[in-house]
Amino acid sequence: MSKRLQKPFPVLYPAPLVLVTCVDEQGKPNIITLAWLGTAAAKPPQVALAIRPSRYSHAIIGRTKEFAINIPNKDLLPAVDQCGHVSGARADKFAQTGLTPKPAAQIRAPLIAECPVNLECRLSQTVPLGSHDLFIGEIVAVHVDEELLDEHGSIDYGKAQAVAYLGNEYWSLGERLKTSGFTLK
Ligand SMILES: Cc1cc2nc3c(=O)[nH]c(=O)nc-3n(C[C@H](O)[C@H](O)[C@H](O)COP(=O)(O)O)c2cc1C
Repeated sequence: MSKRLQKPFPVLYPAPLVLVTCVDEQGKPNIITLAWLGTAAAKPPQVALAIRPSRYSHAIIGRTKEFAINIPNKDLLPAVDQCGHVSGARADKFAQTGLTPKPAAQIRAPLIAECPVNLECRLSQTVPLGSHDLFIGEIVAVHVDEELLDEHGSIDYGKAQAVAYLGNEYWSLGERLKTSGFTLK
């Protein structure tokens, strides 16, 4: 395998693709599309989001210390794309996309009803990293569409119609290959 040495850039793939919701002190909700995020800890359960300080959502989450992660399916791709190219400073993205705000259980920020999975989060730390700030949030409630659950109450990912972000392209996932640990005897 012959490899070309390139200058450093954050090429990690595939990236998740989510819609993060927040609400300002006047009750105006907003949605931002994010791909630079990840699971950060299991106990307490935490996630980390990389958000540029110039984003309208950055200031709202920084002040209110709350946000929700809404995981879309492939039918929601037009809304994902729109929320990633329009700023809430100039638009009402719930009205523009037709997405439905739904009250959360533990936080003021609304959930997106059409997304099959929603994670309610409280901001615990902000780490400035240069171009982006890393928002670390504790997951305080999780909502999963009943239709995604199998008979054991676990998520059946075959039904999730998940989407991922590679480079600047939206991808669906292919077939399930194996279950983790399949090489163990
Ligand atoms: C697929 C996709 C992924 C994105 N991921 C991020 C990200 O991880 N962090 C970020 O700061 N902006 C990201 N953006 C850009 C913001 O979503 C975009 O600037 C948005 O309009 C900001 O909304 P706001 O100003 O209402 O907060 C992404 C955009 C797209 C289309």
